[in-house]
Order: sequence, then C-alpha cells, then structure tokens
Amino acid sequence: MTLTLIAGSANVPLATSIAQELGAKFCKRTLARFPDSELHVELEDSIRGDDVYVIQPTSLPVDEHVMELLFLADACWRAGAARLTAVVPYLGYARQDRRASGREPVGASVIAGLIEAAGYARVVAIDLHAPEIEGFFRIPLEHLSAARLLAEALRTTSDMVIVAPDLGAVKLAERYQSFLHLPVAVLHKTRVSGSEVSLQSVIGDVRDRSPLIVDDMISTGATIEAAVKGLLAAGCKPNMSVVTTHALFVGPAVSRLRALPIQQLIGTNSVDAGSDVPAHLQVVNLAPMIGDTIARLNRDQSLEPLLSHA
Ligand code: R5P
Repeated sequence: MTLTLIAGSANVPLATSIAQELGAKFCKRTLARFPDSELHVELEDSIRGDDVYVIQPTSLPVDEHVMELLFLADACWRAGAARLTAVVPYLGYARQDRRASGREPVGASVIAGLIEAAGYARVVAIDLHAPEIEGFFRIPLEHLSAARLLAEALRTTSDMVIVAPDLGAVKLAERYQSFLHLPVAVLHKTRVSGSEVSLQSVIGDVRDRSPLIVDDMISTGATIEAAVKGLLAAGCKPNMSVVTTHALFVGPAVSRLRALPIQQLIGTNSVDAGSDVPAHLQVVNLAPMIGDTIARLNRDQSLEPLLSHA
C-alpha cells in the first residue's frame, strides 16, 4: 500500500526527518485559521487508497495541535485513505490520567476518545506519561520508548545512581537500569501547583554518588529543580545528569535548568522546543526509530524490537 505522510504543524522538523528516513512523500496540506480563529484544513494531494501517517505531537499550544490532529483525520478518511495512523510522539493531557480530586475530567481519556472518533485506526506514541493510558484507547496503540536511545547517548560512570524523581517514574528508572546496570533511588515528590513541587524524602543510597535523573518529561523544570536540590542535601556528588524523553521546557524551565549543576542534559526531538533551550542540551533524534516503526507498520511487520515493553 502506498505510504503517505502528513505533517501537522507541531513538529515539522521531526516530520521532515522521518520522511527523509523513509524516502516517503508528504501529502501537501493547508493548515490555516479563519478570522474568527477556527481551524481550516485542506489536503492538496490525493491520498485515495493510501496508508496514511499523520505526524503530530500534541505539544504546546496543546489544544490547537489536538484540533489539527483531529481535523486531519477527518479530512483523510473522507478523502479515501485506506488506513490511517496517528503518530503522536508526545501525547498532551497524558498527565490527566486519573481524577486527582473530585469533579475533574480524566483528560487523557477524553483525548483518546477524540482521536478514535476522528477516524484514526491506530496510534503510535512514545514514552506515555503512564503506560496504562493505552487502555483509554479502543484502537491499537503502539507504545515506543526512547529509553534505549537515551541510555546509549549517556556517558556513564560506575558511581552513578539512577534516580526516579517521583513514584510515577520508578518503572522508567527500572527500564534505564535494564540498559545501564546501575542502582536505583526514588524521590517522594508532592505537587504544590502546576509549576511547583515539594520533595518529601529520598529513598535509596545516593551519598557520594553521581545522580542520573530520568523522567518522561520536563515541563516547567520544577521536578528536576526539586530533585537536584534534594539530592545535594542528601549528600550526592554535585555532578548531575538528567535524561528525559519530552523536553517541553515551559515557562521557567530553561532558567531553572541553567541554574543547576547539571553536567549532562539529554532529551529528544519528540516536541519542537524551539531555540530557547539550555546550551548544553543534547538532542537525540527519534526519526530513525519512528521511521522504522512506520515502515514496519506499512509492511505489516512485527514491531517487537521497538515496543516499550521489549
Ligand atoms: C510527573 O509526574 C512527570 O513525570 C514529570 O515529572 C513532571 O510532569 C514534569 O513537570 P515539571 O517539569 O513542571 O515539574
């Protein structure tokens, strides 16, 4: 089946890099706004009978990028796409995977329902905030992980300890441990507000060790800031490494990170963070992994070596 890519506006550099990996063509599309701010989407090439992959992380501005993802699906199936996959390297609203208090929506579940209702038959996502989010979808979700690529990009030393900066990151820390064979420590964090967290305790042996903090995302940088300060207070070496899949860098994140003793800071290009990023940020390109995934899906081949549980 002819493989066709469509890029939403959220991360055109990544989409372009994926297209180069695959040697695949883009369907040209118009993404514009009417004067009243409504979205206007139009496909400029025929995609009838094609195996179509829409590449769109739902990063900041989240709602605009979600809407593009949904409208592109509707345009595609009405235009005769034979198979339609949403490639969402970063899934916005994933942190709203449960009700933290009463009378709240489960945002991740709402988004899953919308993606499905828009016409996608399958989703490809990377390092979801919680793997259980897959269960919100009634269409197949292929859950990839960047952990192996990030681990390969690291310079490791034998005095390192992998640190999960909150209880939710323990599984991710164990995944890094399976590649790096280092001990794991866990931080007990509570969230004070959208941009503030408070560290309760450090669980594990970190004294005189060099911490490697692993997290699925850095948003405002509050979690990393609290982790670094807490680890220093617990007696670790002032020699920090931080690894994350989704480098959102929202609001005060960059200034917070610049002020911390972080020697290695490694992220991926799952979202387009723009140019205002810490100077020493090392970016791992996800295009080869995503390209390989798309090629395998197009040929109905197994994804086993690529999936997050592999
Ligand atoms: C929380 O559970 C996530 O895994 C991240 O630790 C958190 O969302 C990062 O946000 P921020 O950088 O604003 O602390």
